[in-house]
Amino acid sequence: MTETDTAAVIGAATARPPPIHPLIVRVTHWINAVAMGMMVSSGWAIHNAYPTLPFLFPSWITLGGSLIDGLRWHFAAMWLVMINGLIYLAYGFLSGRLRRKLLPITPSAVVGDLRAALAGQLSHDDIAVYNAVQRLLYLGVILASVLVVASGLSIWKPVQLRWLVMLLGDFDNARLIHFAAMSAIVAFVVVHAAMALLVPKTLRAMIRGR
Ligand code: HEM
Repeated sequence: MTETDTAAVIGAATARPPPIHPLIVRVTHWINAVAMGMMVSSGWAIHNAYPTLPFLFPSWITLGGSLIDGLRWHFAAMWLVMINGLIYLAYGFLSGRLRRKLLPITPSAVVGDLRAALAGQLSHDDIAVYNAVQRLLYLGVILASVLVVASGLSIWKPVQLRWLVMLLGDFDNARLIHFAAMSAIVAFVVVHAAMALLVPKTLRAMIRGR
C-alpha cells in the first residue's frame, strides 16, 4: 500500500459521517418552533378580543393578553415564521432534500406503518429515514403552515389581497380557515412533541445533528 493509499484509508476511517439533519434544517426547525408558539399564543389573545368561534382561551396561555399587544406579537412573529419558513422551503426544494425525505407516500405504506406504530412494532433503528406516517404528517404540517400564512395574509390585508380572500371564499371563511389551519398545527405539535420525547435519539439528532 502506498503512502497516499494509507492516508486515504485513514481519512475515510476518521471522517465524520454527514449529519442526519443539516445545520440549516435544525436552525430553521427550532426558530420555527419558537415563532409558531408565539404566533399561536398571540393569535389566541386576538381571538379572545374578537372570537372566530364561540369560546375563549384562558388568558394565561395567551401572549400579549390584550388585543393590541396580541396583534403586536402576532405581526412581529409573522415575519420570523415567513422568512424562516421560506429559507427552509428554498433549501429543501433546491437541494432535493424535501423530495428525498418526504416522498413517496403511498396509502398502503401509511396504513402498514400506522398499524405497526399502534402495535408498538415500528422500528426506530434508522432515524435518517422517515416512516410513511411521519412523511404524511410532515408534509401535512408544511401545507397547513402555508395555508395559515396565506389565510393570515388575506385577513390582514383584505383590500390589497382581495383575490386571496376570494380564493378562500370570503373574509369570514378565510378567518375560519386560519383557525382550522392553526388547530391542525397545534394538534400536530402535541403528537409530534410526544413522539420526540418517546424516541429521544430523534430529539438529539434534531439538536446536535447526530
Ligand atoms: C416542542 C416542539 C417541537 C419538538 C420537540 C420537535 C421535535 C422534532 C424532532 C425530534 C424532529 C426529528 C424527527 C425525526 O428525526 O424522527 C422534528 C422534525 C420536524 N418537525 Fe418538529 N418539533 C417541534 C415543533 C415543530 C413545529 C412547531 C413544527 C411545524 C409547525 C415542526 C415541524 C417539523 C417538521 C416538518 C419536521 C421534519 C423536518 C425535516 O426533516 O425537514 N416541529 N421535530
